[in-house]
Amino acid sequence: MPEEKVLIFDTTLRDGEQAAGAAMTGDEKLEIAKQLERLGVDIIEAGFPISSPGDFIAVQTIAREVRKPIICALAHANAAAVDRAWEAVKEARHPRIHVFLSSSDIHILHQLRKNREEVMEMAVSSVARARKLCEDVEFSPMDATRTDPVYLYALLEACINAGATTVNIPDTVGYTTPAEFTRLIEGIKANVPNIGKATISVHCHNDLGLSVANSLAAVKVGVRQVEGCINGMGERAGNAALEEVIMSLQTRRDYFQVGLNVDATQLYRTSKLVSDITGFAVQPNKAVVGGNAFRHASGIHQDGLLKERTTYEIMDPTAIGWPSSEFVLGKLSGRAGLRSRLNELGFQPSDAELNRLFEAFKELADKKREVMDRDLEALMSHQRRSFNEAYVLEHVQVTCGNHEVPTATVRLVGPDGVARTDAATGTGPVDAIYRAINRIIEVPNTLTEFSIRAVTEGIDAVAEVTIRIQSGDQMYVGRGADTDTLVATAKAYMNALNRLLSIGDVSKSVKSVPAS
Ligand code: KIV
Ligand code: ZN
Repeated sequence: MPEEKVLIFDTTLRDGEQAAGAAMTGDEKLEIAKQLERLGVDIIEAGFPISSPGDFIAVQTIAREVRKPIICALAHANAAAVDRAWEAVKEARHPRIHVFLSSSDIHILHQLRKNREEVMEMAVSSVARARKLCEDVEFSPMDATRTDPVYLYALLEACINAGATTVNIPDTVGYTTPAEFTRLIEGIKANVPNIGKATISVHCHNDLGLSVANSLAAVKVGVRQVEGCINGMGERAGNAALEEVIMSLQTRRDYFQVGLNVDATQLYRTSKLVSDITGFAVQPNKAVVGGNAFRHASGIHQDGLLKERTTYEIMDPTAIGWPSSEFVLGKLSGRAGLRSRLNELGFQPSDAELNRLFEAFKELADKKREVMDRDLEALMSHQRRSFNEAYVLEHVQVTCGNHEVPTATVRLVGPDGVARTDAATGTGPVDAIYRAINRIIEVPNTLTEFSIRAVTEGIDAVAEVTIRIQSGDQMYVGRGADTDTLVATAKAYMNALNRLLSIGDVSKSVKSVPAS
């Protein structure tokens, strides 16, 4: 009998983006979607089209440009949301509408303020409407793990009859445990008479740190679609980390006895990209993609490893695309050498990108004797970040010291091509830089997070600054890298402001008269 496959449903762009402070621009979402396509996920949940015009456009663009996977759009259980979801995905080669509605009494009574019969009716009519528009319809009873199982069975049966081709069982608040979830899935299989007509999916949140364990337990009893996010992003404590789900199923194929369509060697690159775009660092001890995941510190382990890799490594790092060696480029390296190393790291820069990158690389190589892989990754990130920015930082100069009033001068080129210069003093150099920039780009915001790290070891390392700013109730990440920490700081703030201008609707508040 051929091995059954488990479908991987990635919701980094929808549930992942719901993480506080993870807002992404449309271009960034498209870039992640293209990388997810390279990773080979089966389904990309590209967004929630009714939630905002920006989300609608992002889903529509992904549906038009990312052709291999199924492109899915989320919808509330009402006609307007279903129609909007369809509008956004209808040009996809493989479109899907995902209808969700709360099913637990806690949600039905306190949040929806309805009764079970009304919920049943809303779910069935929305699924039926979606199915008239699209062949592929998923239904999720939200908070399924706290739903009365008897009601859940009836709801699933009715939604499958109405046309759902996938029924997803969300552990919305991360409440269940592997043994309990196993029983629930077995209960569904035994008590929903038409369950054979739909694929059973799971969607587990990580509030108790059990999301991956719960998802895998469900696969063991016949679930054939797992939803999750790269790096475990998502609401609150996040969703099941897809890199962990994928590597567990691949490494323990002997136990799970299921196959996958993904190319796991793209995991490292995908994790890096998502972390870079969202500004959510991956913890060093994170399973599969953390910086220490394949680092062996103790003497006994190193000894074993040198004798036979499998003594202490259950996965080959190359299986997730971990760069095989720390390659070093220098001042004398040419364009071809740079391109070839970038390709090995998983980047495919166009000729124009390579030209811009080569200049930045030469500048860095002048300052730093050895340019490491991690420096190249930082350069690539900076290139990507700064490409479509409305305001460009042309110059920043800071004076500070123990007998100085910190003073910063900045020159920015605006979307109109006009250069504006301004200066400010502050309580420290960072404050002075931010105040000087604020005098030109007048967008009210609060700095909520500031962190700095060295990209590589050594005193000449490139500094990477990550910040978050808040404007209204939305947070925006900004990142900047440079051998000068204050320049990196200015770049990070510019990056955050540019994202705010691109995602939020604040363009009207930007100064239109040159400040100098
Ligand atoms: O956690 C959840 O219940 C969800 C649904 C929309 C599937 O994200
Ligand atoms: Zn969720």
